Amino acid sequence: MTVRKQSSTAWYDSPLYYDMVYADYTKKETRFIEGIMKKHGPKLDGPMRVFEPACGSGRLLESLGSRGHVVHGFDLNRHQVAFAKHRLAAKGLKGRVWRDRLQDFKVPRGAAGAVRSLRRMAAALRPGGLLLLGLHLTDYKNTPADHERWIGRKPGIRVVSDTWSAPADRKSRTEAMRTRMRITEKGKTRVEETLWDFRTYSPAELKALLAKVPSLRLVACHDFHYDLNSTRKIDMEYSDVLLVLRKQA
Ligand SMILES: C[S@@+](CC[C@H](N)C(=O)[O-])C[C@H]1O[C@@H](n2cnc3c(N)ncnc32)[C@H](O)[C@@H]1O
Repeated sequence: MTVRKQSSTAWYDSPLYYDMVYADYTKKETRFIEGIMKKHGPKLDGPMRVFEPACGSGRLLESLGSRGHVVHGFDLNRHQVAFAKHRLAAKGLKGRVWRDRLQDFKVPRGAAGAVRSLRRMAAALRPGGLLLLGLHLTDYKNTPADHERWIGRKPGIRVVSDTWSAPADRKSRTEAMRTRMRITEKGKTRVEETLWDFRTYSPAELKALLAKVPSLRLVACHDFHYDLNSTRKIDMEYSDVLLVLRKQA
């Protein structure tokens, strides 16, 4: 696979198709988030207050909002923000969605709550509040080129998403990726391609990052099967981890 060093956001410029590719997981993730909050979060009399940095198309904001929780979120991509705002409004949900960056976002009045962005997220949480952080861990000794495919369907639209990743580079701590979405709509097919470099974290690098933000304490590590009863260690036994971090008092 050849991957050009180039950054592009085409993948995120198409919220509807992005959303379709991930739609199958939304229900499971919603129940998981509720379960984690019940298990590890503060005792609540009323609904949860959910804040999702980099909320994308707002699929989780809508799903959680529809279940009575108060939701807010931001994203860098204006197409995703517009889509998320529209879908909340269409469902009559009041959540606030705005355009901002993980590196220096500001939480507007009325909204709840890498070292800099983790610290900002910690600052946005109240004591006892939880941050759920999902990421892919890298084993630099064993990073073969990889390919994954997801397929999403809606009446009249089919999206096939293929992602190829090149072996991770330990020195620059990056992994070059190429994602191609093949979208078939109204009998026509087009392809949207995105090239990007992802920051990589080995288990040790992730632990070092967490050590720099002691205001967030690791209370559980799960994986992307969203099983409340199955926890993991931060190691290479399983590479997709979902951390539950609690803001300290
Ligand atoms: C994989 S999507 C996840 C979206 C959403 N959390 C979900 O689960 O559907 C990642 C999102 O991060 C956003 N993003 C990437 N870099 C960002 C940054 N520096 N600041 C804010 N958002 C960013 C993208 O625009 C995209 O919508």
